[in-house]
This record gives sequence, structure tokens and C-alpha cells, in this order.
Amino acid sequence: MLEKDIEKVIVSNEDINKIAKRLGTQLAEEYRDQFPLVVGLLKGCVPFMGTLIQNMDIPMEIDFMDVSSYHGGIESSGDIKINKDLDAQVKGRDIIIAEDIVDTGRTIKVVMDLLKYRGAKSVSVVTLLDKPAGRIVEIDPEYIGVTIPKEFVVGYGLDYDEQYRNLPYVGVLKPKVYNKE
Ligand code: IMP
Repeated sequence: MLEKDIEKVIVSNEDINKIAKRLGTQLAEEYRDQFPLVVGLLKGCVPFMGTLIQNMDIPMEIDFMDVSSYHGGIESSGDIKINKDLDAQVKGRDIIIAEDIVDTGRTIKVVMDLLKYRGAKSVSVVTLLDKPAGRIVEIDPEYIGVTIPKEFVVGYGLDYDEQYRNLPYVGVLKPKVYNKE
């Protein structure tokens, strides 16, 4: 049903599973003795973080933050708001931020600075998608699933107007979907 709105698939479900396995295994090796706190940025992180942490066979904690930078459209508005904060204490912790996509880098930068200010021992970023052509703030995620061109994508957590997050792959919408209103 949702598939009829998709012009092309960019990252298939099979590829996402391979990415989660590769990055999860790597993170598990590197954070084996650190009891990391994996922080997901809602809501986009949900599918990828879920798959990723199942591939990390080490002791860890998870927590979530809701930080918004986009307001239902396809353009970055630039203003960022913390809607939900962490429950966990971050002082002295090794933190892995899990993201669906890094575009301008603004969201990640704000969250990284906040966690460091609160005394995190280390903060690294794992993202399913990286869109370096969209970068405004200097941010280099340490763990990247796949680099994509500057194109608006949906699926596997990524939305257009809060929809399509539940697609099991990442794809590009048909232009008619944007031009509906
Ligand atoms: P940044 O602050 O510009 O790096 O934006 C990160 C957030 O913007 C992501 O967590 C997404 O919610 C949203 N975003 C950026 N690019 C896309 C896209 O292509 N599709 C859907 N959401 C996007």
C-alpha cells in the first residue's frame, strides 16, 4: 500500500540488516568493557536502533531523547527544541548516539554538546544514513551505515509529515506526494 508512493528504493531491507550487523558487531567489540549508554533520537531512531542493538551482544543501557529540527516539511528550519530529555545520568558514561540520518548536522551537534556539558566521558555517533552534501555544521559520525546523495528520503524511521516511518526500507517519494496539498 505505501509502496505506491515510492519512486525508488535507496537502501533495501536486506542491506539495512547487513549494515546493522556490521556496525553492531564493530560497536560491541569497541565498547565491550564500557557498559555504554546508547541514546536514540526519537522518533526516527526507533527501527534502526532496534535492529542495531540486537547485533550488540554486550552489557549496555538504552535511553531516548526527542529533539526536533524539522516541522513536518522537507526543509530544515534551523531551530531545535528538546521535547523529551534523558532519564539516565550521563556523567562519566561512554555514550553512543543512534540516528537515522545526519543531514545538516545541527541536531547531532546540539545533542553532543549537551551530553559533553553534562560530563559524558565520550560521545560517538552511529547513523544509518549520512548525507554529507547537506552539512552545515562540522560533524563526522564515527559509524556510518551508508552515504547517500542530497535527496529527501523516507522509511526505516524517516518521515514525510510523520508518515512512512514504518517502511521496511529507505526510499524516495514520488513528487506527486509532495504536491498533494
Ligand atoms: P540534521 O539536524 O539536519 O542533521 O537533521 C537530522 C534530522 O532531520 C533527522 O533525524 C531527520 O529527522 C531529519 N531529516 C534529515 N534529512 C531527512 C530526510 O531526507 N528525510 C526525512 N527526514 C530527514
